Formats: sequence, C-alpha cells, structure tokens
Amino acid sequence: MFSSAATPTHATHAAPFGIPALRIDELSPEERAVYATLKAEHLPQHVAIIMDGNGRWAGRRSLKRFLGHQQGAKAVQLVTETASRIGLPWLTLYAFSLENSLRRPRTEVSFLMRLLKTYLNTNIERMMRNNVRLRSIGRTHELPDDVRERLHEAEEKTARNTGTTLTLALNYGARSELVDAVRGLAEEILHQRFAPGQIDEEAIRRHLYTAQMPDPDLLIRTSGELRISNFLLWQIAYTEIFITERYWPDFRGLHLLEAIADFQRRERRFGGIGKDCGEVEEDPERMKVTVR
Ligand code: FPP
Repeated sequence: MFSSAATPTHATHAAPFGIPALRIDELSPEERAVYATLKAEHLPQHVAIIMDGNGRWAGRRSLKRFLGHQQGAKAVQLVTETASRIGLPWLTLYAFSLENSLRRPRTEVSFLMRLLKTYLNTNIERMMRNNVRLRSIGRTHELPDDVRERLHEAEEKTARNTGTTLTLALNYGARSELVDAVRGLAEEILHQRFAPGQIDEEAIRRHLYTAQMPDPDLLIRTSGELRISNFLLWQIAYTEIFITERYWPDFRGLHLLEAIADFQRRERRFGGIGKDCGEVEEDPERMKVTVR
C-alpha cells in the first residue's frame, strides 16, 4: 500500500549502556505491590508485545474502531513508562504489520499513520524525561514521507538515552525480515566470497533487523488470540509466551508486571532437561530400546 524504496530499518544503534536505572518510587502502589514479589536478578531483558484488540475494545463500547486505536496509543505510553521505571532494557511493540497496510481499509491505515505521527510529536518530551530510547524495525522506508521523517527525528533525539529501548515494529513482517536478511547475506557472500557452507545461525542473526538486541525472553499477546501473526519468528525460538484476554487499550504497566511475575514462575529449558524431570541413567548399556 505504501511506496517502496531504499532499504528497511535495521537496529543500528548500540545497545543501552548496562542496566537502566530503577525508578521504583514512581510506580503506582498496585504496581509496587507486584514488583515487590519479583526476583530482581531474574527480570527479563527483553519483552515483546503483540498489541491486539483495539477494534474489539471499541466494538464492546459501540464506539468507532479509531477510538480503540487512540486508547491503544495511550496504553503504549503508559506501559513504556512502567517498563522504564523497572529498568527493563528492551521493549518491542508490534505497532503495524505489513499485512495491516495491505488488508485494512485505506481510511484506517491513514488514521494509524496520523496517530503514530501525533504519538511521536506529543510523546517525545515524555520519552526524554523517562530516558527512553526510541527505535524502529520493519520496512519503514515504505512509510509515508512525513511519518518516516518524524520517526527519524524522534530516533535521533532519543538516541543517547540510556534507559529502556522502545522498539516499534512498523510495516513489519517476520517473513519479509528473513527475506531482507537473506538478501543481505547473499550480498555479503558475493563481496566477501565466503562459501555458503560457512553460513551459520550467527551469520543470519547478524542480518536481522534486531541484530543489536537480545532475543525476547517474554512475548505477550493481548486479546486472547493464540497466534504469532508473523512477529519475530526467528527471535522467539525459545521465548516464553504469555496470552491475556485483556484488550490492548486496557493493558497497563500493572499487567506487564503480572506477566513478568508469571514468567518468573516458569522453568526455561532451552531444549535441555529441567528439574523434576526424572533421573538420568548413567550407564548407556542399561538403557534397553524397545518400540512396541
Ligand atoms: C490491533 O488492534 C492493533 C493494531 C492494528 C496495532 C497497534 C496499534 C496501536 C496500539 C495504535 C497506536 C500505536 C502507536 C505506537 C502510537 P486491532 O485493530 O487488530 O483489533 P481487533 O483485532 O480487535 O480488530
């Protein structure tokens, strides 16, 4: 739906400098109560969110869909501020997919673009106050010129902030990210003449939009849908998934903290074996193989 040109946005800024400072005293009493139950040494480094349910939130109230998106933008601001107060280094939000631009009515796409521009215009000072660094991933070069320029300005202005990095996935699709990564890798092979047999996971990772970030530890999806919707397919290989029925416009920092508390109750195995998973037989000879 948007014009195509140039190259997609990669994560080109360096990672934040160490762990962002905590501002727990700025949490609400409810947030502080949940935060107090968390293990500080086991906080996720990167939380990604599929923000869903803006339309249904509006429908439930007999409101027009755009009002759901408007409340959704408010939720983006509030959740980002809580993330910055607890020192979450990376927060990535699925704000606009490639499919959104192709499959939604033109009027809705154009409203979402205006909303994004307004969000950037009105929130930049709050981002500065909260030490938030804004970045974006996706085929952002295909966004309308005025949106792209505003995004670029906001990224430049916040580039030296050392708190939470808020990454907006805009005009983003995970499959097209992989296509772009393969193209980048093919260029590298052509110029540096290394053999295809030398391609490994690290070589692919270096060409993803997210090359400078750790993979998400936790993926949250609002509105109860059990889908990944073409979001960060490579990066979420070992990510813990948390689904809430709550619609995005009603999602707040408190719910982010509840999702983190749930994450901390999980045992991450990364393909290994966990505790309470049976004893390991030390003698291979004693392990009789039978298939009935
Ligand atoms: C899904 O709701 C949400 C989106 C289309 C993307 C998220 C957009 C926002 C939160 C708005 C503003 C964002 C920023 C960064 C300013 P939906 O329309 O698919 O909901 P439905 O499934 O209930 O129809």
